[in-house]
Amino acid sequence: MPSGSHPDVLVIGGGIIGLAVAWRTARRGLRNVIVVDPEHGHGAAGVAAGMLAPVTELQYGEEPLLRLGMASNERYQGFAAELTEASGGLDTGYRRCGTIAVAQDSDDRAELRELHAFHRRLGLDSTWLTGREARKLEPMLAPGVRGGLHVADDHQVDPRRLLVALSAACERAGVLLHRAEAVELLVEDGRATGARLSTGETVSAGQVLLAAGPHSHRLPGLPEGVLPAIRPVKGQILRLRVPDAYRPFLSRNVRAVVRGRHLYVVPRENGELVVGATTEEQGYDTTVTAGGVYELLRDAHELIPGITELPLVETAAGLRPGSPDNAPLLGPTSLPGLVAATGHYRNGVLLTPVTADLLSEYLTTGELPDPAQPFTPTRFSPARLSTKASA
Ligand code: GLY
Repeated sequence: MPSGSHPDVLVIGGGIIGLAVAWRTARRGLRNVIVVDPEHGHGAAGVAAGMLAPVTELQYGEEPLLRLGMASNERYQGFAAELTEASGGLDTGYRRCGTIAVAQDSDDRAELRELHAFHRRLGLDSTWLTGREARKLEPMLAPGVRGGLHVADDHQVDPRRLLVALSAACERAGVLLHRAEAVELLVEDGRATGARLSTGETVSAGQVLLAAGPHSHRLPGLPEGVLPAIRPVKGQILRLRVPDAYRPFLSRNVRAVVRGRHLYVVPRENGELVVGATTEEQGYDTTVTAGGVYELLRDAHELIPGITELPLVETAAGLRPGSPDNAPLLGPTSLPGLVAATGHYRNGVLLTPVTADLLSEYLTTGELPDPAQPFTPTRFSPARLSTKASA
């Protein structure tokens, strides 16, 4: 890194969110943007399946998140095309394939029926399927499938390709990807002014963007109360390969709740089949366990019996960054100079385009666009929380 450099924006965290915001910010004209990370692109997105599922992943009470997710989903095709162009032709594996969510027993079916009614109340495009109709769309589904939902606009992208394309686009846009860990946030006169790095360098910056996923709140030097704890939520995932003779194995994403556990299977055009994911809250541990792999294979086999014929090529685990309300933190914090883009929990890949657009607008204009307003980090600041509690 050039000594004495003083970037407009210092991004702490080179995962999918940090890279995407850096790229978009450089494109908007801030030419001096640095992303620090010991290993760019090695966060949760490198493990994730890449389902773009604002509708089928919707939870009750999360309507503001649904709107943000749908806004991001709508931007995806254009974002992927621009990224391919900006990266010199790298494909992101964006695929408009749709999703079906299916039920295996009468309890799962009743739950899906309720979800369908919820979708209808919100005016979402979601069609009920009988078991037979679901199997007609996806013949590999188990004969016992009792019904399901077809959501034509929940798609997929390949997060690993996306990361490669984002890194290339950043470099072509003049963003410096610096391999170093931020070991301390520098604060002077009540303002974030930069960071000290593991290399011994210090970087002063006009603005600091914290995009370090589940490590965000642990950055030494961060004053108390500026960010809530971002909890690491482990997901174990499997990658299988569909031999040519078996294709097409599945044509769209398949989701299910199997005895209360969420399962999804994402088929890529290149024959990769991703099966995910466990949800475990046990700290910063990314060990792949026999139990996790067994659970995923058992549930996947129940849903799609032919899956056990396929070669298993990879097992992996990542950490989703979960905020206290499971929604992201987007925008300025209560510490002047410090901006957050973290806490995306289960939706980091989906929310990448909208996060990049909203945060790059904030970093270049100082105005936080309306869609980000429900997600400002200050919703967790102690003063705001105590006002709410006494209201
Ligand atoms: N969005 C899928 C997951 O978090 O497992």
